[in-house]
Amino acid sequence: MIVHKKLPNGFVYIEIKNSSAEAKIALQGAHIFHYKREGKEPILWLSEVSDFEVGKAIRGGVPVCWPWFGFNENKTLPQHGFARTALWKFVGGDEVDEKTTSITLRLTHSDETLKMWCYKFELELKITISDRLSMELKTTNLDRESFTITQALHTYFAVSHISDVAIKGLDKKPYLDALTWKNEVQKGDISFNQEVDRVYQEVDGEILLIDKNRTVHLKNEGSSSVVVWNPWIEKCSRMSAMKPTAYESMLCIESANAFDDFKVIKPNESHTLRAAVY
Ligand code: BG6
Repeated sequence: MIVHKKLPNGFVYIEIKNSSAEAKIALQGAHIFHYKREGKEPILWLSEVSDFEVGKAIRGGVPVCWPWFGFNENKTLPQHGFARTALWKFVGGDEVDEKTTSITLRLTHSDETLKMWCYKFELELKITISDRLSMELKTTNLDRESFTITQALHTYFAVSHISDVAIKGLDKKPYLDALTWKNEVQKGDISFNQEVDRVYQEVDGEILLIDKNRTVHLKNEGSSSVVVWNPWIEKCSRMSAMKPTAYESMLCIESANAFDDFKVIKPNESHTLRAAVY
C-alpha cells in the first residue's frame, strides 16, 4: 500500500505498509521519518518535538545530507546541504510482492539550487521497505563540468538508553574527531559517556548496533566513511527540535562520503550510495 498524505499546513508525505513493515516518507528532503517492522519497535528515532513544517528540517529519521556534508567551504550555506529541505518529486512506486514495496523520489537542479551550488544534477533516492530498510542515493552529473560531493544518509537510530548500547565493526578504524579535529584510531567497540562526533574512514564491513534486546545491522556500499554522533547533555539542550533529554534515546550512525571520502562525478556519470538497515 502506498498512500499520499497531506497535513493541514501543506506538508506532504507518503505512507507505505506491507506484510513485513511500515514507513513514512516526507517529500520534503525525501526524508524517511518512520520505519517499523511488523510486530517490532521502530528502528528510527524521531524527536517528539520535531517540526513538520515546510522549509524546516525534520529532527530524526534519515535526513539526506547533500551535496555537502557538514558546512560548505565558507560556512555561509545551510549545514548538510539543501537536499534535506528541498521538495522532491515522487517518480513512482512498485509493490514488488506482499512483503516488499519500493518508491523513488527525485530532486533536480532549479534556479534556487543553482544559486547555492552552480551545477546541474539529478538526485534520486530509491527506498525499499521490507524486513529491511534499503536506501539507494544516486547522484547524476547533468552538467558540462565535473563536480565534487560529500553526502550522508544521516540515520537516527532509536535506542533503549544511550549508556547501554555499543557499536561494533569500527575497531582499528582511523577517525577524525570533529570535537578536537585530531586524527585518532578506534580501540574496540564504541560506547557513550560523553559527546561523540566522529568521522570514521576506511570502513568496509557491516556495523552492528548492540542494544539491550536487539541488534541492528547497517551495511553500506559506495561509501567508506561513517559518522557516529551523539550530542550528549549540553549540545542537546542547544539543538533545534530536540528535548534536553533526547540524547538518551538516540544516536546517529551515518552512511557517508565525507572528508577524504569525497566523490568527484564527471559529466553524464553517476555515483550511488547504498545503505541497508536490518
Ligand atoms: C552530525 C554532525 O552529522 O549532524 C554534528 O556530525 C551535527 O556535528 C549533527 O551537530 C546535526 O546537525 P543538524 O544540522 O541536523 O543540527
